[in-house]
Order: sequence, then C-alpha cells, then structure tokens
Amino acid sequence: MVLLNHLQCIVSERFRYTRLANNLKQDSLAEAVQKKLRNAPRSIPPMFFYDHVGSQLFEEICSLPEYYQTRTETAILRAIRYELSRYLHEQFRLVELGSGSSVKTRCVLDSLQDAGAGSEYVPIDISDALESGAGSLLDDYPKLRITGIVDTYEHGLSIVRHMTNSPNLIIFLGSSLGNMSASESISFLRTIRVSMKDGDLLLLGLDLDKDVATLEAAYNDTQGVTARFNLNILHRLNRELNANFDVSKFSHYAPYNKSEKRIEMYLKSEKDQSVDIPGANTTLYLKKDELIHTENSQKYTIPHIQTMADSVNLKIKRIWHDATKKFSVTLMST
Ligand code: AVJ
Repeated sequence: MVLLNHLQCIVSERFRYTRLANNLKQDSLAEAVQKKLRNAPRSIPPMFFYDHVGSQLFEEICSLPEYYQTRTETAILRAIRYELSRYLHEQFRLVELGSGSSVKTRCVLDSLQDAGAGSEYVPIDISDALESGAGSLLDDYPKLRITGIVDTYEHGLSIVRHMTNSPNLIIFLGSSLGNMSASESISFLRTIRVSMKDGDLLLLGLDLDKDVATLEAAYNDTQGVTARFNLNILHRLNRELNANFDVSKFSHYAPYNKSEKRIEMYLKSEKDQSVDIPGANTTLYLKKDELIHTENSQKYTIPHIQTMADSVNLKIKRIWHDATKKFSVTLMST
C-alpha cells in the first residue's frame, strides 16, 4: 500500500500533506551527469533547472514580454470561468499536477466555486514549495481544505486513484507536458487516464504551434533571462558537485525545430575545454560548438491534441484558445 511509505503532516485543520518518507525515486544530479552528460549525445534533464535560483528565474521568464504563454493561458482561464463551471458541479475536487500558489490555480478554483464546489484541493508536487505555496490559498478561499502530496506525479496519481467518493478535476497546466518526448507524454497521459474514474475530468494547458519568430523570441528574450535560466544548470553543477565549469565559455542556444514542432534548448561550448565534476567522478572533454541538450518544448496543433486524446482513450469535451491561437486549454473526460 502506497501510503505506508509516506509521512502524514498536519499543518492545520484545513491543511495537511503527505510526503514521501525516503526520496529514493528522485534521480540525483550526480546520476544524471553519469548517465546523460558524460557521453554524447550529451544532455541534462530539464527537471534540474528548478533549484532555488532556477525557480526564481522561471518566475521571471513567465512575465517577460516575449514569453506570451503564462499570461495567455491565464487570460483563457479567466475568460472561460463560467463556461468551465458548467461542466462541473458541487462535488468536484481539484487535483493539480504541479505547484499550487499561482494565479492559474485561483482561476480554476473560481470556476469550481461558481459550480458550488471548490472545497477540496489536492496539489501534487515533488518540491516542498507546495508547503508554502498551497498554504497561501487558505486565506483567500475560506471553505478550502488542502491535502498536498509531496511526491512524483505518478505516485500522487496512484493515491488520487483511490479518491473515489467524489469526482476529480485534474489540471495539468503551463504546457508542462511539452517537456516530455512524444512517447513519454503519451504514457504520462495514460497514467493520468488510468487514475480517472467515470465522471472525472482533465484540463490540459498546451502551447500551440506558431510562426518561428514568435517562438524563438519567447526562448531568446532580449533581457537574457532564459539564457541565465539555461546556464544556471552549470552554476548548479559547480555548487552541488564541485564542478569547475567556466560558465562564460558556454552560450545559450534555443532554435525551433520545424519538423519536430518543438523548441530545443542547448548549452553550447564556446571552445575546446575540459571540465571536472568531482561530485560525479567525471571529467568532460568538450569540443568547440559541442552541444549539451537541456530541454524540449513541444508545440501542439489541434489535430495533434485530438490524436493524443484518442490514443489514450480520453474524450475531448472542449478546446478553448485565445483569439490569436497562441495557447490552448482542453477539457477531456473518460
Ligand atoms: C515550464 C516547460 C512549459 O517549455 O516553455 C521556459 C520552461 N524553458 N523557458 C517551457 C521554459 C525556457 C517551460 N515549461
């Protein structure tokens, strides 16, 4: 039974969370270096962006003029407040994959309140930012009870699966699915699907495919915040594994791959150089112009969303987008 590995923490009458007792499942940075960075094709998984500094830089990215995603998705959620509430009723519980303090969570909670629901919120997040983030909702939503799950999405969903007394509205926003490969995202959608019972709903926020200039600008902002976000991974390797990356000898490279319909993010070595990473017992020999892959960010079309839904047996109830078709929010049912 999954819960045996979890610690129950009761913060207050309306706020409790469950946390993985031993974080064995979380891949360590040192392991990632040995498995993915040591040999070509070199990569560092994007989950390692989000240390304290990286999370702060990501917040900055979200309000950049070029990064249309966050403000567009938020505007869609505001605009559909009443339309979305018509698919809900007073029993619904909100389950969120990802952190729980944002404006977007509040938009969906407003729809739930309009439907007479919104009394139970289950954020699932591997980071313990959940503790501080989710807590701030309690003041603004006096009826709300929060049961956080500090764990992987997969483990969280295996718990949610047993919450059968009322329907769940599962939300996965911010086009986070786009970080996964095509096959990973299908198997992740299948994991969500398996956790759903009849009557449950999934609300999925996905960035839409568009012209190259807009996409490349969003990942190559003039203030260089995205570059700092990308390069922070090297600072992190220096901090946490005593590596000796000369970060000034690397550059941010984020082209749009037209045939794959995705932004690909890399760190480019500006010269032949070697780097020691004692914390991972590794020395890297990098050629000039050699690339380290750090992230994919998939862009979607409506037919692609339909195909993904079909392949995991989810039914699309509604796809909303903004007037200029920059971003989409899709409601799906079992
Ligand atoms: C949080 C994965 C959706 O891909 O747009 C932003 C992360 N990377 N700028 C994205 C990100 C560079 C973001 N996601």
